[in-house]
Amino acid sequence: MSEALALDVRNITKRFPGVLANDHVNFNLRKGEIHALLGENGAGKSTLMNIIYGLYSPDEGEFYIDNDSGSGLQKVEIESPLDAIQMGVGMVHQHFMLVPVFTVAENIMLGSEITRGLSLDQRTAEKKIRELTQEYNMEADPHAIVEDLPVGVQQRVEIIKALYRRARILVLDEPTAVLTPQEAEDLFRVMHQLTERGVSIIFITHKLKEVLAIADRITVMRRGQVVGTTTPAETSESGLASMMVGREVLLQVEKGPAAPGKVIMDVQGLTVVDERKIDVVNNVSFQVRAGEVLGIAGVQGNGQTELVEAITGLRSYKYGRLILEGKEMPPTNPRHLVEAGMAHIPEDRHKHGLVLAYSLADNAVLCTYYQPPFATGVQRNPKAILENAQELLTRFDVRAPGPMVSASTLSGGNQQKVIVARELSRPVCFLVANQPTRGLDVGSIEYIHREIIEMRDKGMAVLLVSAELDEIMSLADRIAVMYHGQIVATMEATQATKEELGLLMAGSSRA
Ligand SMILES: Nc1ncnc2c1ncn2[C@@H]1O[C@H](COP(=O)(O)OP(=O)(O)OP(=O)(O)O)[C@@H](O)[C@H]1O
Ligand SMILES: [Mg+2]
Repeated sequence: MSEALALDVRNITKRFPGVLANDHVNFNLRKGEIHALLGENGAGKSTLMNIIYGLYSPDEGEFYIDNDSGSGLQKVEIESPLDAIQMGVGMVHQHFMLVPVFTVAENIMLGSEITRGLSLDQRTAEKKIRELTQEYNMEADPHAIVEDLPVGVQQRVEIIKALYRRARILVLDEPTAVLTPQEAEDLFRVMHQLTERGVSIIFITHKLKEVLAIADRITVMRRGQVVGTTTPAETSESGLASMMVGREVLLQVEKGPAAPGKVIMDVQGLTVVDERKIDVVNNVSFQVRAGEVLGIAGVQGNGQTELVEAITGLRSYKYGRLILEGKEMPPTNPRHLVEAGMAHIPEDRHKHGLVLAYSLADNAVLCTYYQPPFATGVQRNPKAILENAQELLTRFDVRAPGPMVSASTLSGGNQQKVIVARELSRPVCFLVANQPTRGLDVGSIEYIHREIIEMRDKGMAVLLVSAELDEIMSLADRIAVMYHGQIVATMEATQATKEELGLLMAGSSRA
């Protein structure tokens, strides 16, 4: 890495109605470096990146880019993504932007089609894609349909797309939030390979360990401003956490031993098939008691998603019974489950968690809007709906201008907080939390972990599914390991070690 700059942005200011998202931000990127950008949910990271990529135009500020022509940094105007791409900027967004029904090749070519005369030169394009995937050892079949691919591969496609357009500055907005640890390792390998070839990378993440492991420099933002820039050698996890949040953060929740009571959820012999009619959950049985957290550990793709979907009524199952507080639940009936006392923090916040076009107030009553106090008969009660939202936004520290803005305008982490707030604020006996803190900053994770333990201590049964082993180890009282659709081991959390869990998750029976 050299000291020479690839990008320098000065004095960027961006206002949205009621929000100062970027407040005179200065940020620079050296050639061939990995520069991590950290900050609380809503701090303004994605906004800054969207400005650099030409999606938003700043109210104030200047851009300087070195386009490798030998003349050093030049002042440039970036008014659209097309400008940004021409200047060598590529971006992989927090929520992917691929067209699900198109093939890998079609998605990569989209917007930069190679033409021969009037017709598309698909062959040349595919050859170029193959060369890129080989160079970086990133497997991706150009003919595969994007929606059939695991998220890790979809992300690879986004990166290949940026490289296909000759990006020399690559923005990765929370690329590891949806990846398994193995996929994340693979991404880091590709990132290093890219920087060796002179590409400069801006890397956004909430995982402090990752930042310390792979960043050359780290810049922290808080409430629209840059707090400072540091290096892994000069700081630590707790140092970064307090720089981000402005106070000390407990990175591990404090909790007493569980006092399990009666069985709340009894899952009996559940077998679930996927779209290909393969048994992805195979005869799974377990119980969750009042006052305990049962954690399900496993590498993503071992049936956890389908198991949770079946339990929460979003997916049908082939065999098995679900018994909630002694009553058998009908399959595929989410409303029945909700009325029987189930809360659900879903894995995919956009698909199952929020209606993005609705206001925060309406999103906060998605499962209770027809009940008092939010409605009397068929009459809605807007005042109660508004007050409820106001209270939740304050209590869960959701950074938003107010309850009437649409959910789509919130930062990713704040969207997640709205879902968690809604689900943890209803009187329920059973909580299913699937990746509850994905995309949340360390301060919010601390808060939500405390809330979950508090709910446990009040006698709620909690089923926690998480790809973060640290999260499972810190919250769960008992841990079940899922592998190839089955529960291969169950143990007390106090007895579990990371090594043993890791082995079980990888399918080893030695334990
Ligand atoms: N299109 C928009 N319209 C209105 N407000 C917006 C819009 N985009 C972002 N904001 C607001 O700007 C602020 C910064 O949001 P941004 O998405 O940049 O945060 P972030 O640092 O990326 O957070 P996260 O870690 O949660 O992704 C937030 O308060 C958000 O609500
Ligand atoms: Mg963001």
